[in-house]
Amino acid sequence: MPGTNSPDLATVLREQFAAPVGVILQGFADASASLRDLLAVAPLRDLIGATGDVNVQSEMTAKLDVAANTLFLDALRLPGVARLISEEEPHPVEVGDGAYTCCFDPLDGSSNIGVAPVGSVLGIYTDAAGAFEAGYAITGRQLVAAAFTVYGLPTMLIVASAERADGFAFDPEDRTWRLVSPQMRTPAPQYTSINWTYRDRWPARVARAVDRASDGLRGRYSGSMVEDVLRVLMAGGVFMYPEDDSSPSGKLRMLYEICPIGFIVSAAGGDAIDGTRAVLDVPVTGPHQRGPLVVGDRDAVRRYQDGYALAD
Ligand code: AHG
Ligand code: MN
Ligand code: MN
Repeated sequence: MPGTNSPDLATVLREQFAAPVGVILQGFADASASLRDLLAVAPLRDLIGATGDVNVQSEMTAKLDVAANTLFLDALRLPGVARLISEEEPHPVEVGDGAYTCCFDPLDGSSNIGVAPVGSVLGIYTDAAGAFEAGYAITGRQLVAAAFTVYGLPTMLIVASAERADGFAFDPEDRTWRLVSPQMRTPAPQYTSINWTYRDRWPARVARAVDRASDGLRGRYSGSMVEDVLRVLMAGGVFMYPEDDSSPSGKLRMLYEICPIGFIVSAAGGDAIDGTRAVLDVPVTGPHQRGPLVVGDRDAVRRYQDGYALAD
């Protein structure tokens, strides 16, 4: 039974990842533990609310978006890292001559700050061809590892290689992440997760695909992708953020939301598509490129794809 004797994160990382990648994942976990501390006292430290600025995506920046960005930027300036790409930075931040580019969403689910769980997302990409410098003809197939955190009770960290995804819970007593869900597999689907208030904006093929994917499932939607994806991994189901008439490419970003999440759920036996193809095969040509995402149980994702493919 998982408990205080379960393997800790450092042990699992040592077994599964070569040094630079394992150290980067540990850096992400450490910064996540610090952000968890900050979130726990945010209303007491004047950390709730907006900065008054907007980020490169024209979104209002919360004070905690900025604090979280600083935490992860500082934690990921590590040997082996070439550059950092953050949701909150307009341009890639050059770090060194390493082989890896780390892309992160420091705080996912900003509208839930102070109200409901938020999280963080990381993707670690190789860039043998130098595409990141030359204009971003890259794909999620270049991911070597990915991780995301959900700052709930418990605070959970999911870490994945291409082969497997493992779940860790944070123990505040010894400040250690411990393995509680080894080799996660997407369970039989129960829940469908989508912002259904946008239904009037969905193209006909999207509405049909959503209905097919959701057949027999019950609705849950949090407003934090990480929380909904954790539900996909722990309880089973499908999460969708499709394109719509006002966001023709969807809302979520390829490098630090869609690809890492698609990689993690695929490692757990699920699937992730943009409607027609695996999200990991979609060419990415800019740091903040958006795309649609349908992720979770393989059968539900296939039903979406089938419904999407029919002529209107
Ligand atoms: P972020 O806070 O990093 O900008 O991401 C928010 C994303 C995602 O977490 C969530 O699923 C989605 O936005 C919610 O958007 P809607 O309010 O349009 O449903
Ligand atoms: Mn996000
Ligand atoms: Mn964010």
